[in-house]
Amino acid sequence: MSAYQIGVIVGSLRLESINRKLADALIKLAPSELSFKDIAIDKLPLYNQDDDNNQAASVKAMKAAIRACDGLLFVTPEYNRSLPGVLKNALDHGSRPYGQSAWAGKPAGIVGASLGAMGSALAQQHLRNILSCLNVPVMCQPEVYVHVDQDFFEESGDIDANRRDFFKTWMQAFTQWIEQHAVEKA
Ligand SMILES: Cc1cc2nc3c(=O)[nH]c(=O)nc-3n(C[C@H](O)[C@H](O)[C@H](O)COP(=O)(O)O)c2cc1C
Repeated sequence: MSAYQIGVIVGSLRLESINRKLADALIKLAPSELSFKDIAIDKLPLYNQDDDNNQAASVKAMKAAIRACDGLLFVTPEYNRSLPGVLKNALDHGSRPYGQSAWAGKPAGIVGASLGAMGSALAQQHLRNILSCLNVPVMCQPEVYVHVDQDFFEESGDIDANRRDFFKTWMQAFTQWIEQHAVEKA
């Protein structure tokens, strides 16, 4: 059995999402210490503070899923030089009611892919800002800004063999990040 469960949050709801593809391909490169579970954000209502004391079942389920994890992997596209609204919506839901955030203390890693040359860099930077407010320790290095060109994914969905080692190294660093926080918590 894997030692640590990682919740995967993809910031795109699109069926053919390159970020979903990236998440799936990355998971295949992870060491056996990690297991992964998708955390669904597609059924969440739009956040409304009036509902804080009566959160929807989908919100409660997401918060329970986050709490059950040892760490989080965010995989996000960039929308208009920031993170997509669906991801921000999920972050806000998980942070409330005040004092009952599900995010606090969960170590996280961020990756992201876009069709543009900047590879989601600005979305990731904005996400780091928000996660720091939510008391989520985010791995700083290595950073991963993925520009998806036509050769990035192989037919199988795997990352192109010539670039795979870089992502394997990222996964190893992420695993150490999770382990380090688990030790500090113990
Ligand atoms: C509303 C919207 C805004 C976008 N803004 C950016 C952007 O600021 N930077 C960028 O590199 N790509 C941008 N794109 C293009 C995305 O990189 C591209 O659609 C990508 O495939 C989205 O990720 P996904 O495939 O995981 O859904 C934007 C796409 C949409 C739909």
